[in-house]
Amino acid sequence: MNAAGLKSIDPKSIDPETVPSFTLSSGEKVPSIGMGTFGSDRYAPPEVAAAVAGALRFGYRLFDCAPVYGNESLIGGVFDGAFRSGLVERKDLFIISKVWNDMHGRGDVLLSLAKTLKDLVLEYVDLYLVHWPFPNYHAPGCDGDARNPDSVPFSADDYMAVWAQMESIAGMKLARYIGMSNMTVGKLKAVLPRCRVRPAFIEMEQHPSFGQRELFDYCAQEGIQVIDYCPLGSPGRPERDKSPGDVVDMELPEVAAIAASRGIHPSQVCLKWAVQRGGIPIPFSVHEKNYQSNLAAVTGDLLSDAEMEAMKKAERNCRLVKGQVFLWPGAKGWEDLWE
Ligand SMILES: NC(=O)c1ccc[n+]([C@@H]2O[C@H](COP(=O)([O-])OP(=O)(O)OC[C@H]3O[C@@H](n4cnc5c(N)ncnc54)[C@H](OP(=O)(O)O)[C@@H]3O)[C@@H](O)[C@H]2O)c1
Repeated sequence: MNAAGLKSIDPKSIDPETVPSFTLSSGEKVPSIGMGTFGSDRYAPPEVAAAVAGALRFGYRLFDCAPVYGNESLIGGVFDGAFRSGLVERKDLFIISKVWNDMHGRGDVLLSLAKTLKDLVLEYVDLYLVHWPFPNYHAPGCDGDARNPDSVPFSADDYMAVWAQMESIAGMKLARYIGMSNMTVGKLKAVLPRCRVRPAFIEMEQHPSFGQRELFDYCAQEGIQVIDYCPLGSPGRPERDKSPGDVVDMELPEVAAIAASRGIHPSQVCLKWAVQRGGIPIPFSVHEKNYQSNLAAVTGDLLSDAEMEAMKKAERNCRLVKGQVFLWPGAKGWEDLWE
């Protein structure tokens, strides 16, 4: 995207100063909502990049990226254009990226981040995450039955070898914070005592039917900020992540009732709930109406105590991203990934 297209803010835009923020253990404030950039194998990189440009103009300041989403170089063009045009300054954005599962070998993390920095046209990312806690990967766009015969179960020693590389890149100031994703309480208990630099963030699946209360509370107790992925229940997720019996969060009666009583869309109920709980939702949409509505949802009032109480009944323990494509030979089922 050239700088000219990013000159002006959207006239309907939301002042980022009015978006609620959370305070990290470091004392720094971060926006309480951001935008996801995974096109779910449905949206091509230019469509996602155009949405990032629109979102920047509208007032989004936090973006969740990853090399495996296949669009970092186009999104980097948008960021570069936004800085050149003066729409935003680098310090005003909070940009996240992640090391993918095929880059867990010795020396790989720095290489992976270097490619991301080149693609995103940045000198540093604000947060760099270990995308999954094992080196098991699948081909982009694969179906749910795909398995990689080289896949292995979680190993705390192997994870710490990756984490030591994360600590190095933090030391080099190439990532302001480092964090983890797709963890469990058991895995965190195995690795946190061994961290020289602790994770400032954990990114994990969170939506009304899947609040992961124990893990969420554990993170809070450890002073780790949670980032909520699939905050709307990811209705457009890839086919490999769909199973019979999956809950549709935006159609849950508990969500629908609050939406109806307030005259708002169910997506806004999900996002208000997320921020009220203390997570940072990163909803994805390439549609202007939707991504604008998502940011607007958290700038007005959130949910009342009575509504938050009613939302507890929406919990169905319904994990959507089961991760079965990461299973190793001999694993019983996707539940093994989440022990
Ligand atoms: N760390 C990880 O392993 C991990 C895993 C999964 C996702 N993520 C991150 O989390 C982000 C969000 O997850 P997600 O995209 O799977 O799920 P999501 O944000 O819960 O759902 C996105 C879907 O919701 C629809 N939508 C968005 N806003 C809407 C609105 N206001 N009204 C109605 N529908 C709306 C979109 O449809 P339209 O396109 O039609 O608007 C899209 O199909 C990803 O983009 C990615 O950055 C991280």
